[in-house]
Amino acid sequence: MELREGLVIGAQNHLFIGGCDAEALAREFGTPLYVIDETYLRSACKAFVGAMNAYAPGGVIRYASKAFCSMAMCRIAYQEGMGLDVVSGGELYTAYKAGFPMDRVALHGNCKTPHELTMAIDLGVSDIVVDSRDEIALIDGIAGSLAKRVNVQLRVNPDIDVHTHPSIHTSGQDSKFGLGIDNGEALSAIKAILACRNLRLTGVHTHLGSQIFSMDPYRKAVDRLTDFMVLSAAVAGAQMSELTVGGGFGVRYTQDDPESMCPEDAVRTIAQEVKRQAGRKGLSLPRLILEPGRAIVAEAGVMLYTVSGVKRIPGVCGFAIVDGGMMDNPRPLLYDARYRALLANRCRDRPNERLRIVGRACEDGDTLGEYLLPSPEQGDILAMLTAGAYQYSMASRYNRVPVPAVVLTRFGKAEPIVERERYDDIIRMDRIPNWL
Ligand code: LLP
Repeated sequence: MELREGLVIGAQNHLFIGGCDAEALAREFGTPLYVIDETYLRSACKAFVGAMNAYAPGGVIRYASKAFCSMAMCRIAYQEGMGLDVVSGGELYTAYKAGFPMDRVALHGNCKTPHELTMAIDLGVSDIVVDSRDEIALIDGIAGSLAKRVNVQLRVNPDIDVHTHPSIHTSGQDSKFGLGIDNGEALSAIKAILACRNLRLTGVHTHLGSQIFSMDPYRKAVDRLTDFMVLSAAVAGAQMSELTVGGGFGVRYTQDDPESMCPEDAVRTIAQEVKRQAGRKGLSLPRLILEPGRAIVAEAGVMLYTVSGVKRIPGVCGFAIVDGGMMDNPRPLLYDARYRALLANRCRDRPNERLRIVGRACEDGDTLGEYLLPSPEQGDILAMLTAGAYQYSMASRYNRVPVPAVVLTRFGKAEPIVERERYDDIIRMDRIPNWL
């Protein structure tokens, strides 16, 4: 498998990320370290936005910030002409503080608290995606109390089979997300929304799952959602002008994965299908919204660790121990995720030993997977590629290990966009009651 554009093996056999020597980055900023290549990141944004402008003018690419959210990332998303999908007060606050225009932000999530809803409505988000029946009156009430009228989309569940890990499949009948089309729940929610004085129904939304490598589920989703728009108009008089088909575009992590989905092909296929289905069904062409997360940031990211030692158990197995693990990347444990791993300071050395890369957490399960490596030694810098999505955003402080820094590289320059936590940050929220 070739290295992606922007990753280069340069002087002294070292890996260069966005023009920066990975070993020098590790030395300067410490490890574990999340590194994001700005040029590559922007090229992914441009590919999606360019395709949307070409094939569905007026449509929006809403970056799913759960994949990787920080103020700098919000700034880049804005500069690249994207909207933003947020699922919590924390993501919303980050976008707000980064100066992201609130009228380009949508609030999603299957459990929005009254506090989060109040904040979103008060800040003036573009719309809220309704996920359950109970939310409707709640949003209506909060909007009323703030004397605002709020745009809402309804998240529906089209019950479409997607071949991905069960934990990231979100459109089966038993999903906790959205309301079923087949069981009538979605239509009944449409009627309920239309009856609310402070809500304006703007569209339907779905998200099928993540790591999808085929366009078939998207075509089916467009078919089912446009059918549902026709039904809602006929039965309830709903006039909806927006159609959100979610994100989920698959990214290649290892040789065993299919090629990453091409943003242009994906957007074109969906846009054409919307046009075709709307035309066939007599719907006026809805504004298309897509929400890629992983496909925007995954490949731009590289994770760097320092090998703290190698342990070989004769006749059994061997471990390369790194200074991070499940706390900075829980994905191998949660989804059996696998990556490409290489030694960033000895890139061209021939891999000759299969080792389990294990982390520093105090449990045996803490592994990042098994990889073929060129006999690592203490002090080597281990790079795991395609590390930009759902790693920093899913990091924990297990064992009270500080959350690593995130560094942005561009044309050979590197700047932290999230500082490494310090021990003082670890205890900052601790309190000792006065009876102790
Ligand atoms: N829209 C909605 C409503 C979503 O729930 C998600 C992801 C996306 C868009 C973006 O999906 P993407 O383009 O990134 O596939 N933690 C898991 C992935 C969970 C995805 C959750 N929802 C992982 O590490 O693989």
